[in-house]
Amino acid sequence: TQPSLKQTFRNDFLIGTALNPAQIMEKDTASARLVLQHFNAITPENSMKATHLHPERDKYNFTVADQLVDYGKKHHIKINGHTLIWHSQLPNYVRKMNNADSLRQYMKDHITTVAGRYKGKVFSWDVVNEALADDGTLRKSVFLQLLGEEYIVEAFRLAQAAAPDAELYYNDYNIEQPKKRAGAIALIKKIQAAGVKIDGVGIQGHWRASHIPLTAIEQSIEEFSALGIKVMFTELDLTVLPNPFRGDNADVSARTANSTNELNPYPAGLPDSVQATLSKGYEDLFKLFLQYKDKVSRITFWGVHDGQSWLNHFPVRNRTNYPLLFDRNYQPKPAFYAVVKLKDL
Ligand code: G3I
Repeated sequence: TQPSLKQTFRNDFLIGTALNPAQIMEKDTASARLVLQHFNAITPENSMKATHLHPERDKYNFTVADQLVDYGKKHHIKINGHTLIWHSQLPNYVRKMNNADSLRQYMKDHITTVAGRYKGKVFSWDVVNEALADDGTLRKSVFLQLLGEEYIVEAFRLAQAAAPDAELYYNDYNIEQPKKRAGAIALIKKIQAAGVKIDGVGIQGHWRASHIPLTAIEQSIEEFSALGIKVMFTELDLTVLPNPFRGDNADVSARTANSTNELNPYPAGLPDSVQATLSKGYEDLFKLFLQYKDKVSRITFWGVHDGQSWLNHFPVRNRTNYPLLFDRNYQPKPAFYAVVKLKDL
C-alpha cells in the first residue's frame, strides 16, 4: 500500500495542503481521499480571502469557510486561516478607500469579525501576507499608503485580541532571499518590540525545480528561528515550465502565450529527465527540512495534485504544469517516493 505523507513525517512536521471547497464537497472525491490519507493541515486556497469573505463593506459571506472549518474539526486537521490582510484579492471598496480612518475601521472590523468567528477553531492565521517588496522595503499597498508601516503591528494586535489562542504568522514569497529576508526580520522584530504576539513566519516556497535556493533557505531557517519563532514552508510547489514573462507583473488575464509549446511543452507527459529534476528538487528540500525539523513546524503544498495547481494558470492561463507530488490521475509521482524514502534510511 501507498505510504502516507502525514504518517511518514509524523515525528517531524505537519504536512499540509491548500484546499478548494470542491474537494470536500463530494465533487472531487478522488482529491478528497488524498487529503484524508496524506495531510494533517489545510490552508484554504482562496475561500478565506477578503474578496470571498467580505465582498462588500457591510456584508460577509461565511458559507464556504464555515464548511472548511467544520471539515477540519471533523477530521482533526489543523486549519491555517489565509489571510487577514493582503493587498491582493482585496475588494474594490477597500482598494479605493482614500482616508486613513475608513481603512483603519475596515481593518478593525474585518480582523475582529473573521478571526473572532473562528476563535478556538482555526489553529493559526496568516495575519499579514506579502507586505514586502523584493528589495526588502514595504510594498506600496493601500494599507502602507494610508496607514503607514504601523498597520502591520496593528493587524497582529487586532488578531491577537480577536483570537488569543490562534498562532499568528507573517507569510511571504522570496523571503529566503537576503534583501527581502532582512526586511522580514526587521518587520518581525518590530512586532515583537511592540509587545505584540507573532508565532511564526511562512516562507511560501514557489520555486523552480531546477533552481532551488538551498543555501538561502538554510540561512533563513536559522535566522528566522533565532528570533524565537516557528518557521514554515507554506505554499510549496516546484514549477518545471519556463516563465516567459519573468519580471513582468502585468495582469495574467491580459497575457497570451506565444505558442502551444509554451503552454504545454510535454504533450506526451513529463520526460524522465524533467521528472528526475523535480524529484531531486523535492528530495534536496526535504533533506534540509528534516535536518532542521526542530525549527520547521509545517510543510504545506499549494494544492493536492498537478491538475488543480494555480501554476496551470500562471503566468499565463491553460498551461499544463507538474509542480506537486501527485499527478493528474491522483497517483504519487517519483518525487513522492523520493521524499518518502528519506525516512527509510
Ligand atoms: O472563481 C473564479 C471563477 O468564477 C472564474 O470563472 C475564473 C475565471 O478566471 O476565475 C476564478 O477565480 C480565480 C480564483 O483563483 C479561483 O480559481 C481567480 O481569477 C484567480 O485570480 C485566483 O487565483 C488565486 C490567486 O492566489 C489569487 O491571487 C489562486 O487560485 C491561488 O492559488 C493564489 O494563491 C496565492 C496565495 O494566496 C498567496 N501567495 C501566492 C499564491 C499563488 O499566487
